[in-house]
Amino acid sequence: MQVLLTQEQIRDRISAMAGEIARDYPPDEQIHLVCVLKGGFMFLSDLVRALPTRVTLDFIALSSYGKGTKSSGEVRMIKDVDHALEGRHVVIVEDIVDTGLTLHYLQDILRARSPKTLRTACLLSKPSRRQVDVPVEYVGFTIEDHFIVGYGLDYDERYRELPYLAILRDGE
Ligand code: IMP
Repeated sequence: MQVLLTQEQIRDRISAMAGEIARDYPPDEQIHLVCVLKGGFMFLSDLVRALPTRVTLDFIALSSYGKGTKSSGEVRMIKDVDHALEGRHVVIVEDIVDTGLTLHYLQDILRARSPKTLRTACLLSKPSRRQVDVPVEYVGFTIEDHFIVGYGLDYDERYRELPYLAILRDGE
């Protein structure tokens, strides 16, 4: 596998993203991060440690991919968040936005719960693959159309543990 982004590149970009996020909220207001499982877990853990702001956390699990590298286009909620979102500054923490279908579905659901603000942070974005237009306020890296693994992202539940991002050649 070819390394796309090293640990150092990821760390530096997340630290800059944390600065961008912190600047957008009043310093005395708490940010509520909603991490999309499973792919977002490593990004979340580095992001919270880079953020100077006080945060609260919640987790949601969605499924949009089966075993392959192609989206089924179908999104299902597997696990809902545990806490109400009303009146909170919610930031969705997602690994990658590809067709945009997952994020579109998620933003609709969360917006209906009346957060004070709703923004999205994605580590990776593949704009050439977009099928629906979704707002993503914080993008880590804009990449070409490759299937990526590592740093939380999987292929058939494998490679999530890699500390860097790599291009998976098999299954392309
Ligand atoms: P979308 O609905 O097509 O935008 O896909 C979003 C979800 O598909 C992400 O949260 C990932 O779980 C998965 N996904 C999309 N592209 C990749 C990739 O290159 N590697 C691993 N997972 C991906």
